[in-house]
Amino acid sequence: MSEHAPVTIDVHLNNQDPAAIREEIRAGLLETPRRLPTRYFYDDRGSELFEQICELPTYYPTRTEHALLKTVADDVVARTGAEELVELGSGAATKTRTLLDAMARTKQLKFYVPFDVSEGIVRRVAHELVAEYEGLQVHGVVGDFLAHLEHIPQGGKRLVGILGGTIGNLRPESAAELLSSIEREMASGDFLLVGVQLITDTDRLEAAYNDSVGLTAAFNKNMLRVLKSVIGVDFDLDAFDHVARFNSAEHRIEMRLRSVREQVIPIPDLELTLHLKEGEEILTEISTKYTRALAEAPLMQAGFTPVAWYTDPDHLHGLALARKP
Ligand code: AVJ
Repeated sequence: MSEHAPVTIDVHLNNQDPAAIREEIRAGLLETPRRLPTRYFYDDRGSELFEQICELPTYYPTRTEHALLKTVADDVVARTGAEELVELGSGAATKTRTLLDAMARTKQLKFYVPFDVSEGIVRRVAHELVAEYEGLQVHGVVGDFLAHLEHIPQGGKRLVGILGGTIGNLRPESAAELLSSIEREMASGDFLLVGVQLITDTDRLEAAYNDSVGLTAAFNKNMLRVLKSVIGVDFDLDAFDHVARFNSAEHRIEMRLRSVREQVIPIPDLELTLHLKEGEEILTEISTKYTRALAEAPLMQAGFTPVAWYTDPDHLHGLALARKP
């Protein structure tokens, strides 16, 4: 430990208004079709399961983006001159090291700001990285980036990253809103790097979300476990099946939990009794796939200027680099 702590962690999740949280879940369950907020995948166990998914042969996005970042990181750092990396949805920050390495090579690296909903993973990553990078300061933020973006500390010349296709988990209106709020938090001349999964053939896309060892199913059902701590319901995990299909009109994978039988689930916290028919599905995640044009349009809409577009040789993944004018 050095005399000025190289690690600071701010936790904002506990500030959320419980009534607003309950109302959001209730409203989603009462919508047609029913849905649940995707961020409830990610407690510490959910983040762990997602890390394991990333190792699956069928789940290609993580390794494709990692390889792509390795080939473009020096170019990104040269174009941006960033001293500070802010990463929204940082998770295990495995791919992040590629960018941090490139920043370290040009002796520009000063600050890393991991921002994630999982406190355990933010703490772990912060301590790992200060040990790996000499002189690095890490200021972790535990929060929901749709609600707590203003808690990003003010910094130097910044590169903000949303990698892995995380933006694709948001509906278009929320993605647009997020990009606008990121833009407001940035200084003129700061850069944004957005990783997007590209539209490819349906079999490959669906295989990535229907692995044979059941990890994605466990990840999907983990939401029901997480909800127990939020709304106090003891869901029967065996009463739900994992479903993932490509919706080609909306160019996105949609994950659902399908009730295997009729269920009557009292949820006193929501003043609601949930009646699920046999076969009825609850939408838990969308994972949007893009083209370059689909990725750059919302960036421009939010006021950014696209400055570079990178893709792997198989065109499975894209990275859009944009600048705040
Ligand atoms: C968090 C966006 C990288 O949408 O592909 C993986 C989450 N869901 N398998 C994605 C996820 C099911 C993932 N990202």
